[in-house]
Amino acid sequence: MTAPEGGLAEGRGPLFDESGASPVKELFGKLADGTEIHRWSLENGGTRLRVLSYGGIVQSLEIPDAEGRYANVSLGFDTIEPYVSESPYFGALIGRYGNRIGEGRFTLDGETYALSVNDGGNSLHGGVGGFDKVVWEVEPFERDSDVGLCLTYTSPDGEMGFPGTLAVKVTYTLTSRGDWRIDYEATTDRATVVNLTSHVYWNLAGEGSGSVHHHELEIAAGRYTPVDARLIPTGEPAEVAGTPFDFRRAKPVGADLRHADQQLLYAKGFDHNWVLDKGATAEPEKVAVLRDPGSGRMLMVSTTEPGLQFYSGNFLDGTLVGPSGRTYRQGDALCLETQHFPDSPNKPSFPSTVLRPGQTYRSTTVHSFTC
Ligand code: GLA
Repeated sequence: MTAPEGGLAEGRGPLFDESGASPVKELFGKLADGTEIHRWSLENGGTRLRVLSYGGIVQSLEIPDAEGRYANVSLGFDTIEPYVSESPYFGALIGRYGNRIGEGRFTLDGETYALSVNDGGNSLHGGVGGFDKVVWEVEPFERDSDVGLCLTYTSPDGEMGFPGTLAVKVTYTLTSRGDWRIDYEATTDRATVVNLTSHVYWNLAGEGSGSVHHHELEIAAGRYTPVDARLIPTGEPAEVAGTPFDFRRAKPVGADLRHADQQLLYAKGFDHNWVLDKGATAEPEKVAVLRDPGSGRMLMVSTTEPGLQFYSGNFLDGTLVGPSGRTYRQGDALCLETQHFPDSPNKPSFPSTVLRPGQTYRSTTVHSFTC
């Protein structure tokens, strides 16, 4: 996927249609019931993004290295079928609730709700038919020097067990600097819980290029939320100091990954929520930096969210094949999911994920790339 193309670091590039007015839209495939799934391709500031109407999936994200060599730095598939049948959330929008809700139930205003369970007894990433599995309405837009896509979906009351009709709008923006920004918005007609995120699997050397254990990662968090054997937070944040969870200074992802720490044993690696030092903020603030020393490509994550799930690709097991034609094995990518904390609906001490009629859920995450 690497092609030397030095001159493309500026402007909107060739992924616009002939008039230059809007991103290229093409048929990507069809679902079993005949529903057409489209792929949108857009480019700005040297970043190229391909998005599917299915799951709002980032099917590829290409960025250059210092020599202008592009690589697709996110794991995915070439065709629609594996996204439907076996994808571990590659590139997908996640909702209504990112990460786990213990035992797939919670109580709100005295009423107990039973959710779709898909992870042992837990509900993970919104259940079996989460936002990664629905077809989104997609509208391209152009604003000043930005280009982007506006994705909307209305989740019916009771879908996957969650109360309230949830109207969701997610905006993907590519800025003239090549940043990929995500703005999430949601409203409800009944009290509910919401925690939206994006599940891109990053490999800054390029998908299919092998392990990311040599990538260097920094996370601005002095605490994380330890889990039990079901990967449900115990509810008591712990200090990262003196543990493998200390990423306050950049270190290779693989440096402490083989420590026989009970937390790493439970999750087969890192799959935990970091309690970001900045807390929830009105504007996105920088919380993580990922760098591939080989290519020099660097990703900076800024968010309004109070938490970050760092997942070290523990469940990739060599059974999935990417667009490169190569298999994905354990540790071949990592996820940095900005979020509220897992199982918050059952953890009164965690920042609240409750959304009520009249309120608007808002969350922003910005991915900046440099090399
Ligand atoms: C999240 C979860 C992981 C796993 C991956 C997808 O990161 O925390 O446990 O489910 O998604 O496989």
